[in-house]
Amino acid sequence: MINIKPKVFVTREIPDPGLEILRKHCEVEVNKEDRVLTKEEIIAGIKGKDALLCLLTDTIDEDIIEANPNLKVIANYAVGYNNVDVNAASKYGIPVTNTPGVLTDTTADLTFALLLSAARRIVESDKYMRAGKYKGWAPKLLLGYDIYGKKLGIIGFGRIGSAVAKRAAGFGMKILYYEHDGPKDTGIDAEFMEFEELLREADFVTLHVPLNERTKHMISHKEFEIMKTNAILINTSRGSVVNEEALVKALQTGEIAGAGLDVFEDEPAMKPGLAELDNAVIVPHIGSATIDTRNKMATMAAENVIAALKCEVPPNLVNRAAIEKRVCKNAI
Ligand code: DGY
Repeated sequence: MINIKPKVFVTREIPDPGLEILRKHCEVEVNKEDRVLTKEEIIAGIKGKDALLCLLTDTIDEDIIEANPNLKVIANYAVGYNNVDVNAASKYGIPVTNTPGVLTDTTADLTFALLLSAARRIVESDKYMRAGKYKGWAPKLLLGYDIYGKKLGIIGFGRIGSAVAKRAAGFGMKILYYEHDGPKDTGIDAEFMEFEELLREADFVTLHVPLNERTKHMISHKEFEIMKTNAILINTSRGSVVNEEALVKALQTGEIAGAGLDVFEDEPAMKPGLAELDNAVIVPHIGSATIDTRNKMATMAAENVIAALKCEVPPNLVNRAAIEKRVCKNAI
């Protein structure tokens, strides 16, 4: 009997632990070019394939899904899956999966790194030293903002938001949080506040919501007007949660004091003016970028692929509706 292996298309090289799992069970084609593929290239890549493993930089829209409605899974190598048209996938009975949990602490660490860097002007100070500007200690040199005793407003109190709260507690911060669904039993010493109340109160505001129609531009001109002039905004969620043009203006005019940003509206581009601002610490979407975490994400994404190919319910399924509709043929 000829044993035909299922075929998987991977849109960009992911860490080996994930590829090793896939190769045990499948024929694996990996995009070898170190760049994001075009829509046409993704369509060509998934032709005749059983599974797609994609990244947050790939927009998997209805056209792509329609180009191969026989896919048995779309496994996103990220916790956020706003890049995948989940409704279209469900319509065709294609399970969509993500990689939650394994990047929680790594992303919370980066959130805190941005908070500390923005408040204490670490990047600016580093540039100052390298430019040979340091002529000796001075009472007013590079003054920043205290963290200890300040109020941290967490918008979105899920896994990552809660992990940030635990770090903040160690820094003696008072924790406020906003959740769309209202207060929750967090087991953490944190006070629920309505959205605008939190913006009015917080010295630091950090965003941990998924990007969707409700959260797009949830921080814009009006919200910057409400925030304190000494407030610092941290975003490690998705760029479009913030109106980046409004943010540039708020940072330029002193409506808020600073920002720490891992994500941008039009990644990899930044809105005009942002790169020139010393009060913004900007890093290239490295929230989950540690060796261990990226290995775990790769393993998790691959395990989701294999489970779907076995016609099991993938461990990190995001669209249950697809399971009810899918037709299992040639399961491994
Ligand atoms: C995710 O997984 O959604 C993160 O943005 C990756 O760093």
